[in-house]
Amino acid sequence: QKKKTLTGKKVLVTAGPTYENIDPVRFIGNFSSGKMGFAIAEALANRGAVVHLVAGPVGLSVSNQLIERTDVVSAKEMDQACREIFPQCDAAVFSAAVADYSPANLSAEKIKRTGDDLNLQLTPNPDIASNMGALKKAHQVTVGFALETSNEEVNALKKIGKKNFDFIVLNSPNNAGEGFMTDTNRITIIHKDHKKENFPLKSKKEVAEDIASALEKILLK
Ligand code: C5P
Repeated sequence: QKKKTLTGKKVLVTAGPTYENIDPVRFIGNFSSGKMGFAIAEALANRGAVVHLVAGPVGLSVSNQLIERTDVVSAKEMDQACREIFPQCDAAVFSAAVADYSPANLSAEKIKRTGDDLNLQLTPNPDIASNMGALKKAHQVTVGFALETSNEEVNALKKIGKKNFDFIVLNSPNNAGEGFMTDTNRITIIHKDHKKENFPLKSKKEVAEDIASALEKILLK
């Protein structure tokens, strides 16, 4: 049983992928399982925080009664939900794998196969973490994720600046057992003051505890 160190705190957590509809039966998505975000939501709720979990399409359930869940499908819906919830929160953890683009035109009919090439025009989705970063007040703490395939640290630091994060959780898809769809993760936390903490390969539940502890340290300062 964890000490209820975060009682009275409200935290927004985004989790899972987003699906961007192409036509009534097809979408653009990604392989995010949502496990990392759900584990973070549970870890924070176990410490007494009220957690607003905004989840994309995932096959997961929550057990802690302090978790209030909002299910969304697309990036635009996730952005809208966050705009409503974030202003009431003390912190936010953006762990969702938001689709970067969505189809410019949603076809009302199922698109037919013709044998010719098909071009899908895509338009950029809202960057939810950046949008909340712009709304962020001095007392609010925000945490992001970065999954980079090259120049990890340089890009992670750029993201901290662009999205106004207090720290970013870096994980690399290059190594077996890390990142998407797995039950384990090896992370590095990089703080806005460039301080770095390396962690060994752990279960996502244990990683979630490390992230919750890093967030708690700043929240209770
Ligand atoms: O720019 P990039 O997608 O690598 O940034 C990753 C971080 O930004 C993650 O914390 C992710 O949840 C968040 N993000 C977001 N909305 C987007 C894209 C990324 O909230 N449209």
